[in-house]
Amino acid sequence: MLKLLSPAKVNLFLRILRKRDDGYHELASLFQTIDLCDTLELHLTDRDCLTCSDPDLPTDENNLVLKAVRLFRQHTNIKASIKIHLEKKIPQQAGLGGGSSNAATTLWAMNELFDRPVSQTDLKRLGAEIGSDVPFFLSCGTAYCTGRGEQLRELSPLPPMQMSIIKPREGLSTPLVYRNLDVASLPPRDPEMALAQFISGKPVFFNDLESAAFKVLPSLIDFKQNLLDAGFSTVLMSGSGSSFFCLGNGVINNDMTTQHYKVRFTNRLINVWY
Ligand code: C5P
Repeated sequence: MLKLLSPAKVNLFLRILRKRDDGYHELASLFQTIDLCDTLELHLTDRDCLTCSDPDLPTDENNLVLKAVRLFRQHTNIKASIKIHLEKKIPQQAGLGGGSSNAATTLWAMNELFDRPVSQTDLKRLGAEIGSDVPFFLSCGTAYCTGRGEQLRELSPLPPMQMSIIKPREGLSTPLVYRNLDVASLPPRDPEMALAQFISGKPVFFNDLESAAFKVLPSLIDFKQNLLDAGFSTVLMSGSGSSFFCLGNGVINNDMTTQHYKVRFTNRLINVWY
């Protein structure tokens, strides 16, 4: 039996450079894992089975966890079946990478259960077949990601930061947000410069997907403004939304229409999971 945490991420900055011929977008983003985590429990058994604490999530082949199991078995020729329970805390459709993280955690866990038959490089390659963000979750928690998100420049941990993650009731579909993106209208920021600023301790936060998310869900404009009015110094959407990360001290009402998490950055050591 193996029980592992599966952390969420935020995109501290996210630059979209262009639309590619394969339909994906070329991006450059600073990804960071945070200590808002799901938990996966895996047992070797005689029949594959996935259960989940959230009844809204599919537990069939559409769940990225089972895609990861299948891919790992294909790649290694290992035939064993596995029973997995997924305890969800990371909200869905939030831009926090929950599904991708679960897939990466499954790949890592399978590799541990069978005494590491797959190299870390190949594990990331398998991850990229599942989704653009999956390889990042196999890094140590801080990475500058390019390509469609799957190419990693691994970085040392950033100075600690506390933030509030706040998600409205409505979620957002990643493909829909990308479809509403007008790349030509984006400000021409240099992501390498943004990275250098982060590393030198003068962080800049931006997200090129925010304007597209506002088009899909216009109520997010007021939602963000309300968070700024509540006193947070920085409020930025994570990934394709709909959650925002907030820095500073804001006073928010205990509103049932939002989910609110106080989080910190988290990193792991090489060869040790979170
Ligand atoms: O790679 P993943 O399956 O997570 O991507 C989900 C969707 O998000 C893609 O089908 C695509 O519409 C969009 N996407 C994109 N450019 C990226 C990553 C994702 O257009 N770099």
